[in-house]
Amino acid sequence: MDLASNLTTRAKQYSIGQVFGFTDVPDSITALGCDSNDGPVPEKSNTYGFRREFLRELLEFLREPSGDGFYVVGPTGSGKSSGVTETLARLNWPCQEVTAHGRLEFDDLVGQFKLVSVAPGEPPVMQFVYGVLANAMKHGHVLLINEVDYVDPAENGGFNDIIEGKSLTITANGGEIIRPHPMFRIIFTANSNGCGDTTGLHRGVLAQNIAFLDRCRMTHVAYMDAQEEDKLLASKVPNMPQKLRVKLIEVANAIRKQFLGESGTGEDGKLAVTMSTRTLFRWAKLAMDFRQHPTPLKYSMEMSLTLRADVSDALAIEKIASGILGEQWNPTNT
Ligand SMILES: Nc1ncnc2c1ncn2[C@@H]1O[C@H](COP(=O)(O)OP(=O)(O)O)[C@@H](O)[C@H]1O
Ligand SMILES: [Mg+2]
Repeated sequence: MDLASNLTTRAKQYSIGQVFGFTDVPDSITALGCDSNDGPVPEKSNTYGFRREFLRELLEFLREPSGDGFYVVGPTGSGKSSGVTETLARLNWPCQEVTAHGRLEFDDLVGQFKLVSVAPGEPPVMQFVYGVLANAMKHGHVLLINEVDYVDPAENGGFNDIIEGKSLTITANGGEIIRPHPMFRIIFTANSNGCGDTTGLHRGVLAQNIAFLDRCRMTHVAYMDAQEEDKLLASKVPNMPQKLRVKLIEVANAIRKQFLGESGTGEDGKLAVTMSTRTLFRWAKLAMDFRQHPTPLKYSMEMSLTLRADVSDALAIEKIASGILGEQWNPTNT
């Protein structure tokens, strides 16, 4: 495939084993990426833990989207957005990332005429300013739209032709036509699979149009399994003893089960907050930072999660934590 060598972003192959740290993958197995890190290549974290199945699906999509968008669905803080950006960081693939909201319009992504001043104090002039979609299409970047299910489905309809690989016509700019660069890709993340919020937990989520969803390949990102999470937690909070780490992960998984309605206790779906990977890391770090406090685990849990939960959820979480952590949660000698 000739990837238009004269255009902004150029193709380069990367050995998957080397860039993603899999020692059992031969160097000859490669993934498509870009040859320079000009442009908005995401930051990378050296402690990021890649999940093979997700990575395999994402790399295959990046290699050959075949007229599809890539739709990543999963609970909050499970690693959807970071799974994409950490991958792109290693492939030197520039990425335009947007977090959607209920008032986002397709035209906001295309571009708008704005008053622009060339230097401070100079009188402004009207100028067409390209939006993230137009820029990504022109230069061969990935457009990553987080929380896409917050957007009005009629607005998301604007993506239909673009996903299929058609050009973008900017009527407002004299009918300018932007042809998609061969390295342009479009990726969405969301808590719902586009069927709307069936749980009552995700306020603001809207059911999406079937024509839009039909153009996307879907992938699911669940919370990490306990072993993977333990490895990561060890690298993020190295001063926490292993025994305690394992218990914190157990608490996190019990909270998640109750949030997702999988606890089997009849209390299902009662929690409106959950312990995402992000929150777990925060809890563990604060517990170590405040280890001189009489009840460090309880105190740091409040700061990380329960102060933003309603009273009954906070109590339910306390019950889970004290059941698992016992004396460590409520030291008797204080
Ligand atoms: N595989 C992972 N390795 C390291 N950190 C992770 C991983 N997955 C999630 N995280 C942590 O959790 C946070 C939330 O992940 P994020 O991708 O923003 O979640 P989502 O988009 O699903 O809400 C990240 O900032 C990162 O700190
Ligand atoms: Mg996200």
